[in-house]
Amino acid sequence: MRMRNKYRKPTTLRCNAGSRCSMSAVVWSLVGCLLILHLYSIVHHKDGVGEEFQMRMSHHPQFHELQKVEEVNIQIPPPRGKRSPRAGKRRPRRTTTLIDEFLDENSQLRHIFFPDKKTSIGPLKDQGNDSYYYQPGRIWLDTEGNPIQAHGGGILYDEKTRTHYWYGEYKDGPTYHAHKKGAARVDIIGVGCYSSMDLWAWKDEGIVLAAEENDETHDLHKSNVLERPKVIYNEKTRKYVMWMHIDDTNYTKASVGTAISDYPTGPFEYLHSQRPHGFDSRDMTIFKDDDGVAYLIYSSEDNSELHIGPLTEDYLNVTSNARRILVGQHREAPALFKYQGTYYMITSGCTGWAPNEALAHAAESIMGPWETMGNPCIGGNKMFRLANFFAQSTFVLPLPGFPGSFIFMADRWNPADLRDSRYVWLPLIVGGPADQPLEYNFGFPVWSRVSIYWHRKWRLPQGWSGLK
Ligand SMILES: *[C@@H]1O[C@H](CO)[C@@H](O)[C@H](O)[C@H]1NC(C)=O
Ligand SMILES: *[C@@H]1O[C@H](CO)[C@@H](O)[C@H](O)[C@H]1NC(C)=O
Ligand SMILES: *[C@@H]1O[C@H](CO)[C@@H](O)[C@H](O)[C@H]1NC(C)=O
Repeated sequence: MRMRNKYRKPTTLRCNAGSRCSMSAVVWSLVGCLLILHLYSIVHHKDGVGEEFQMRMSHHPQFHELQKVEEVNIQIPPPRGKRSPRAGKRRPRRTTTLIDEFLDENSQLRHIFFPDKKTSIGPLKDQGNDSYYYQPGRIWLDTEGNPIQAHGGGILYDEKTRTHYWYGEYKDGPTYHAHKKGAARVDIIGVGCYSSMDLWAWKDEGIVLAAEENDETHDLHKSNVLERPKVIYNEKTRKYVMWMHIDDTNYTKASVGTAISDYPTGPFEYLHSQRPHGFDSRDMTIFKDDDGVAYLIYSSEDNSELHIGPLTEDYLNVTSNARRILVGQHREAPALFKYQGTYYMITSGCTGWAPNEALAHAAESIMGPWETMGNPCIGGNKMFRLANFFAQSTFVLPLPGFPGSFIFMADRWNPADLRDSRYVWLPLIVGGPADQPLEYNFGFPVWSRVSIYWHRKWRLPQGWSGLK
């Protein structure tokens, strides 16, 4: 499963979106020889920092808790008569795997991946000691007792109101196939928004960007696709700006759309869609850097690579500057974050609604080159780690006050009933040396490891600013 070096191409990097450049291997080896000693000292220096940091973290008892390795032991039941066609299709030459069980609506293990309503979590229920505990995969209810509808989402922290806003796909409609070969889908309903001070109790703020019911030519016509909405705030224009993947049923439009609002809770005004830099664009995210420059990152060239480029100052358009990254690696569902001046990204592979292996990437410059560091998942069991805990990355949220700690947000898609897709939130910690040799640093792991720890239940450290 390791992707390492399989994709090692004759150095395609720092290319403009429209053209490819290549450097000769000779130059690289010369540069390599010159830098190798220098790098060696950096490695040692950085390792030292990492250890120191880990020590500090591990002295904090609650972080110790979060970094505990928690195993999952699941026995795959013996095959029974009929499986659902969804699982059958994937089966031909292999024995039954947990992924087959995951995709089989009739699996005896269904309750492990999609626990039923009785086990739901949320602020209305008397949770006893379970208040504030995330329980990945369980139904998560909002402050009114309804399942949260914010799939493929992201979180905006609004400084002015000290409130977190969670935006995502509102998918509370029937799942169907538009035609025989079409992917499972739900008609566009809109972008849902939830607010919270503590990141656990979420208040429904309604649909802040709604589908278009009648105009079939409109991007947001319900028959189309709206995925992965993300919102950032523009200090200069004082507008909340939303970017999202816009597509048609067959995913041939492959565009990004933008919308704008004066308030985090909308309503957002839809502006238009475009193919950024003239390229197809499917899974995407936006990232706002410390200096206020925001970036669009999207899967392109039929999902074979990602493109990244800064937005204009008003965040409403891309600029002509863009780079190809992770070329030939076929990654989607990008989620970016930054720590101590280094950029990190989690991505998934491309297998439709089925789960697959997550990879962590790092870069010193956001425009690349980006290194692939390997699978960030820790705990669970081997299948859990190879399937990113049966979920797909969507966002990584920094926890202010706890440097190096983040919430990893992912979607456990349920292709049989997409509205019942679950949220998998887990602690993500940056620290310690990377465990895989890196391409652009001559094999030396100069960056910290990104680790996502499996927990059946966990909570944010007490003392985190949002919690009373
Ligand atoms: C909650 O925790 C306390 C102290 O650990 C324990 O005594 C009590 O039984 C727990 N309550 C429930 C409902 O689990
Ligand atoms: C999607 O593809 C199917 C099958 O190829 C075709 O019948 C249908 O017209 C297409 N729909 C759109 C909106 O392009
Ligand atoms: C967005 O920028 C591109 C050039 O980068 C330009 O061609 C296009 O017209 C712009 N779109 C809008 C709506 O301003």
